[in-house]
Amino acid sequence: MKAVLCNSSGPPETLVIDEIPAPAPAADEVLVDVYASALNFPDVLMIQGKYQSQPAFPFSPGGELAGVVAATGADVKDFKPGDRVFGGIGYGGFAEQAAVKSRSLRRMPEGMSFQEASGISTTYGTSYYALKQRANLQPGETLLVLGAAGGVGLAAVELGKAMGARVIAAASSAEKLAAARASGADELIDYSDGELKEKVKALTDGNGANVIYDPVGGDLFDQCMRCIGWYGRVLVIGFAAGEIPRVPINLVLLKSCQLVGVFYGAWSARSPAEAESNFREILKLYEQGQIKPLIGREYPMAEYAAAMRCLMERQAIGKVVVNIR
Ligand SMILES: NC(=O)c1ccc[n+]([C@@H]2O[C@H](COP(=O)([O-])OP(=O)(O)OC[C@H]3O[C@@H](n4cnc5c(N)ncnc54)[C@H](OP(=O)(O)O)[C@@H]3O)[C@@H](O)[C@H]2O)c1
Repeated sequence: MKAVLCNSSGPPETLVIDEIPAPAPAADEVLVDVYASALNFPDVLMIQGKYQSQPAFPFSPGGELAGVVAATGADVKDFKPGDRVFGGIGYGGFAEQAAVKSRSLRRMPEGMSFQEASGISTTYGTSYYALKQRANLQPGETLLVLGAAGGVGLAAVELGKAMGARVIAAASSAEKLAAARASGADELIDYSDGELKEKVKALTDGNGANVIYDPVGGDLFDQCMRCIGWYGRVLVIGFAAGEIPRVPINLVLLKSCQLVGVFYGAWSARSPAEAESNFREILKLYEQGQIKPLIGREYPMAEYAAAMRCLMERQAIGKVVVNIR
C-alpha cells in the first residue's frame, strides 16, 4: 500500500510517498481502508520533531481519519467489514490502510462525508471538553475565541453558540472572521492591529469576557489576561503562534480568574467513558444541525506537503483534509 512517510524530523518537503506492506490488525484492532485524513496542528509539529509525544521513525503522519472497515482483529465485537468509521489515532492516517485500536473508532453518522468525519474527532472533542468540563461555560456568558477560524477555534465558536453563550470570534483577517460569522459568531474582532484587549473591553461594557479560549498563545495571551472578566476562566489550549507565553501572576489575583489547562488527549485516555459521552452529545448536535464542520481545503494524497504548508503558513480556514482515496 502507499503511505506518506516521515523518515526524519524536518519540513513537509522531506517526507516521501512509499510503497510499504499493509498492516495486520492485532486482536483489539480494526484494519481501516482510509478515505480521508484531516490535518491538525500537532501533525505539523510532529513531523518537525516538536510535538510533546513523538512516534519512532519511520511513521506516517495524519492524526485522524475516516474510512471503511476492511477487517477486524479476533477480539473486536463492535465493528464489521464495510462499516464507515472515523477516529483520532495519533498518527498513521496518511496511508491507504491503518490498523487502529477499536476503542479509538466510532461509526459515522448517516449523511456525514468522509471529509467531514475525518476532521471532527480532535477539534470538537477538544473544544467541547474545554468549554464543558474545564470552563463550565454557562448560557448567557461571553466567550472569546482566538484563532476562531482555525480547526479547534471554529469548533469552539459553534459549540459555544450551541451552549448558549454570546460568542466573540477573534482572528487575523476579514476572510477568517467571515468564516467565524458563518459558523454563528455574534461579534468579530480582527486582532491583526494588536488591539485585542481594547476591542474586547469595548464589546463587554468594560467587563471583559467570562471565558477565553486560546489556541494561539504568543503575545496575544498577555492581552487575554487583561480582558478576562471577574471570576473568568482562561483556557490554555495551545501555542500555534510558536511562543509559550509567561503570565504576570498578579493578573490572576486582580481578576480572581482561573487559568485552566486543557489536554484533551490525556483526558480522553484517563476518562474514556466521559469522553464517549461527550462525543455522543457532539454527534447529536451534528444531527440537529447545530454544528456543521467546515472543510476549508482538500488535497489529494500526492499533495500532502502543500496541505501541511497551509496550516504552517497560517492559511487554513476550518479543516484541511487530505483525500487518501
Ligand atoms: N490542548 C489540546 O488538547 C489541544 C488539542 C488539539 C489542538 N491543540 C492545539 O491548538 C492549536 C491550534 O490547533 P489547530 O489544529 O486548530 O490549528 P489551526 O487550524 O492551524 O489553527 C491555529 C490558528 O492559530 C492562529 N495562528 C497564530 N499564529 C500562527 C502561526 N504562526 N502559525 C499558524 N497559526 C497561527 C491562526 O489564526 P489567526 O491567523 O486568526 O491568528 C490559526 O487559525 C495548536 O497549538 C494545537 O497544538 C490543543
